[in-house]
Amino acid sequence: MRRGIFACLVGIVPFLAAGAIFAQDAPRLRGPEPFTKETPAPPMQRQVTNDVRVRRNYPDQPPVIPHSIEGYAVDLNANKCMSCHARKFTQESQAPMISITHYQDRVGNTLGGLAPRRYVCVACHVPQTDAKPLVENIFTDMDALAEPERQPQRGRH
Ligand code: HEC
Ligand code: HEC
Repeated sequence: MRRGIFACLVGIVPFLAAGAIFAQDAPRLRGPEPFTKETPAPPMQRQVTNDVRVRRNYPDQPPVIPHSIEGYAVDLNANKCMSCHARKFTQESQAPMISITHYQDRVGNTLGGLAPRRYVCVACHVPQTDAKPLVENIFTDMDALAEPERQPQRGRH
């Protein structure tokens, strides 16, 4: 129903039918049971915490997190991530510093500290799991497009 309202709003009613077809192909996130039936939640996937920094799929990608973040508070009083990733703590922590963009507001002014829009790190940076993807990933690295003969080894996506 929400899909229908959205399509009408943006005025692309002809796409409605196509949308319905794709919806049938997409896996149901809540599993095969009807939503009226209460089923136990699947176990949490184990996170990849091998400390190996993962290659970015494109230069502006927020790098994924290669370490555990369990119990790291990011709230009004504390930002645990900054206790290692802030410029002044990187020597002790050996963590990569947050990039210069994290000190800039949206019009590019450089601020004295972490920009508020970059405060909630996990809005952009996420840990990875070994879970099987729900849908096929057909993303192609731009290096592979530019230089097909010198395709880099495929890593995690
Ligand atoms: C105890 C120190 C520490 C804390 C706290 C910490 N990190 Fe890290 N982080 C590191 C180190 C060291 C690395 C380098 C890779 C490694 O050793 O895991 C890293 C790597 C990363 C990377 C990968 C950077 C890249 O270029 O590939 C991201 C993203 C990241 N951390 C995000 C976070 C976020 C988000 C939090 C808070 C939820 C956080 N970190 C908390 C130490 C820390
Ligand atoms: C709004 C999205 C967003 C938020 C929020 C955010 N980041 Fe990032 N981060 C990015 C993007 C995009 C990049 C890569 C491009 C760039 O540097 O801007 C990046 C890059 C990084 C890098 C790699 C820096 C480098 O030079 O290799 C680290 C480390 C990092 N972020 C840590 C953090 C931490 C810690 C926080 C929370 C305090 C955070 N980020 C919040 C989007 C975000």
